[in-house]
Amino acid sequence: MEKKNIDWENIGFGYQPTDYRFEARWKDGKWDEGKLVTNPNIELSEAACVLHYAQCCFEGLKAYTEKNGDIVTFRPDQNGKRMQDSAKRLEMPTFPVDKFVDAVKAVVKANAAWVPPHGTGATLYIRPVMIGSGPQIGVAPADEFIFRIFVMPVGAYFKGAVKPLKLTVSNYDRAAPHGTGGIKAGLNYAMSLYPTMEAHRHGYAENVYLDPATRTFIEETGGTNIIFVDKEGTIVVPQSPSILPSITRRSLVDVAKDLGMKVVERPVKLDEVKDMAECALCGTAAVLAPVGMIHTEEGDIYLPSGMDEMGPVSKKLRETLTGIQGGDLPDTRGWICKAW
Ligand code: PLP
Ligand code: COI
Repeated sequence: MEKKNIDWENIGFGYQPTDYRFEARWKDGKWDEGKLVTNPNIELSEAACVLHYAQCCFEGLKAYTEKNGDIVTFRPDQNGKRMQDSAKRLEMPTFPVDKFVDAVKAVVKANAAWVPPHGTGATLYIRPVMIGSGPQIGVAPADEFIFRIFVMPVGAYFKGAVKPLKLTVSNYDRAAPHGTGGIKAGLNYAMSLYPTMEAHRHGYAENVYLDPATRTFIEETGGTNIIFVDKEGTIVVPQSPSILPSITRRSLVDVAKDLGMKVVERPVKLDEVKDMAECALCGTAAVLAPVGMIHTEEGDIYLPSGMDEMGPVSKKLRETLTGIQGGDLPDTRGWICKAW
């Protein structure tokens, strides 16, 4: 198979239509078989529930070319499970996890020419999305749904991703107490668009959102979880029901334990950040990106790891996780799933 003629080392994180996508439709109370299609567009009723009432959830995962040339994905079953949790909370039908994994593999295989080669730093980003497509004018769930999986080659989510980022604590909330922060609903991202652009306009890469009930604890950013390393070298992971359960973060916790590091998962106060040694953002798109500074109302907090380099613990975690994903390190936990 001949690869597409792409400057793999220099691609950004953006939409690029590729050759095939998977589509399944829910009608009359059941999913159809689903199939690969070539049209990147979807025709919708003007009254489609997603357009008015944001009945939409999505996922994000990646395919990698391993050192030995195999094309693999990372823990796709976990994305399938999380998408079911999102769908349930939004009154959408669940898509079976085994069929989700099969569909992910089928789309990756069909678009193998778009999967970046090993060692380029680029990967194939996979975006499953489900929308309420049935017409609805009263506030109620749709009765028809479309589930799609499309893919595109991507580079780093944050420009110069291994350079420490500057963040700001947002005056806005991304999730309500007892709301939808813990699922991957499109509406959570609509809420974050204005604060994200405000952060960018002020020169920050992202927002740190606080817990919406008391605004004293650290939650996450608009598109990543946050982890800390304290001065004793312990990994400190903020815990809250309105944080999205990141698959990357959960994998990093396991990787850290395998490396013999101590991990504590608990609510983390904004007040504690000044005592931390390292801070990093983690997610599928972001991988693990170091944070150098966080702007707060009380002033700027500079992490001791500095603005030039990633801290040593973050570096070790990033190298180990990407090593497993790229097949340079052994996959002892069965996380790697061959596309064919
Ligand atoms: N938090 C938010 C709000 C996200 O959008 C994402 C991205 O998926 C994450 C965290 C990271 O989750 P994961 O590691 O499963 O990609
Ligand atoms: C991902 O990491 O897959 C996400 O969905 C985050 C998004 C902000 C790009």
